[in-house]
Amino acid sequence: MCTAAAALCIALLTGCSIGTLSAGDEKGRVLVAGATGGTGRALVKGLGDQGYQVRAFVRDEKKARVVLGDDIGYAVGDVREIDSIRAALDDVDYIISAIGSTPSDKSNNPEAVDYGGIKNLADAAVGTGVKQMVLVSSSGATQEDHFLNKTFDNILIWKFRGEEALRASGAPYTVVRPGGLVNRPGGISTVVFAQGDTTTGIISREDVALICIAALQNPTALNKTFETFNSDVEGENDWPSLFGALEAD
Ligand SMILES: NC(=O)c1ccc[n+]([C@@H]2O[C@H](COP(=O)([O-])OP(=O)(O)OC[C@H]3O[C@@H](n4cnc5c(N)ncnc54)[C@H](OP(=O)(O)O)[C@@H]3O)[C@@H](O)[C@H]2O)c1
Repeated sequence: MCTAAAALCIALLTGCSIGTLSAGDEKGRVLVAGATGGTGRALVKGLGDQGYQVRAFVRDEKKARVVLGDDIGYAVGDVREIDSIRAALDDVDYIISAIGSTPSDKSNNPEAVDYGGIKNLADAAVGTGVKQMVLVSSSGATQEDHFLNKTFDNILIWKFRGEEALRASGAPYTVVRPGGLVNRPGGISTVVFAQGDTTTGIISREDVALICIAALQNPTALNKTFETFNSDVEGENDWPSLFGALEAD
């Protein structure tokens, strides 16, 4: 761990600015796909709060800067175009994806985004310095007859295909399957983790972001897939117990 005093000393000796020795450098750089979305915004804030450097992978940088500000890095691209992802991965340690397809846009549909886009992110990560990819998928991903498949272009079926592409890619991963997302403050109600895709519930987007961040650099979160919901108990989450109790895929 580099203390502020040590950083100052090194900066004076080397002539480097202290900014090059920030806590973010120590924790690593995270490429956030879907950064302008509800969960993505919570991810950007939470990662910054916890000392990570953030590079937002966005389709429209001007629009994104209005939402996310100027204190983070940006890479412009589209998950349907793998070359745009490759160009964004320089010096990236982790990827978190909270992308989601756009029901109103036929070309940005679940097959192209929730499957094809996730496959592109995972395939692009392999062979680079990326140490882990965390994917926000959905509870119900294994349930082919789920009503959401009928309403939204087989969205859960394609999300499951996206998960499968990540699991098969060889990139170290964590798949988080939240229940119904709600906009309420995170860090208040504890979260529960489940496996087997048989339970349902709701969860704050901010809590989903906190889970994704807690999974980073956590060996007990690697190569695991789980559902998650808010409980009705307030308190702090015991991340080691939650992740440690999960079976690996
Ligand atoms: N809604 C629920 O109850 C629920 C439940 C379980 C799981 N989920 C899943 O949880 C995740 C997060 O949901 P959310 O509601 O927080 O997200 P959201 O607000 O819908 O945001 C989606 C994000 O994906 C980006 N995106 C869409 N197409 C893209 C493309 N082709 N290339 C790059 N970026 C693209 C959007 O960027 P732009 O700004 O460019 O559009 C936006 O940042 C999604 O995967 C969602 O399906 C949702």
